[in-house]
Amino acid sequence: MQNIDKIIDKWNADPDYVIEMMQDVQDELRHTPREALEQITKQTKVPLARLYHIATFYKSFSLTPRGEYEIQVCVGTACHVKGAPLIVDAFSRELKIKSGETTADGLFTLEGVRCLGCCSLAPVVMIGDDLYSNVKTVDVPELILKYRKEEK
Ligand code: FES
Repeated sequence: MQNIDKIIDKWNADPDYVIEMMQDVQDELRHTPREALEQITKQTKVPLARLYHIATFYKSFSLTPRGEYEIQVCVGTACHVKGAPLIVDAFSRELKIKSGETTADGLFTLEGVRCLGCCSLAPVVMIGDDLYSNVKTVDVPELILKYRKEEK
């Protein structure tokens, strides 16, 4: 909780900056746990229910731990037409998790997301900050391996 206090101090416990505080917590812990929200409430006096509303409204927050790498498979229309559901299935099979879940080793979280804004490259996948275009199901095992290797 010391880190949380530091984050709150960084924003001078200003209630106008609770989203920024929560974003810093999310970045630091890869999720926004209840204890952190309670701490922010205690120091900023912003009601806990409001923080929960923010945490559940914005997709960038997660109440449960996220993987080190977020795999975002675009399931927007252009990507859907070009086989995005099969790509989600391939990641799901390889990682043994469903969309929205995190692997037991905490390395990957799989998510289907709306249009990533580069439809001409469909189907697209983002892993962390890296964008992959024209992804095929056969590419999936190699992509996963690449990030597993980076961890070693
Ligand atoms: S629909 Fe996938 S990038 Fe637009």
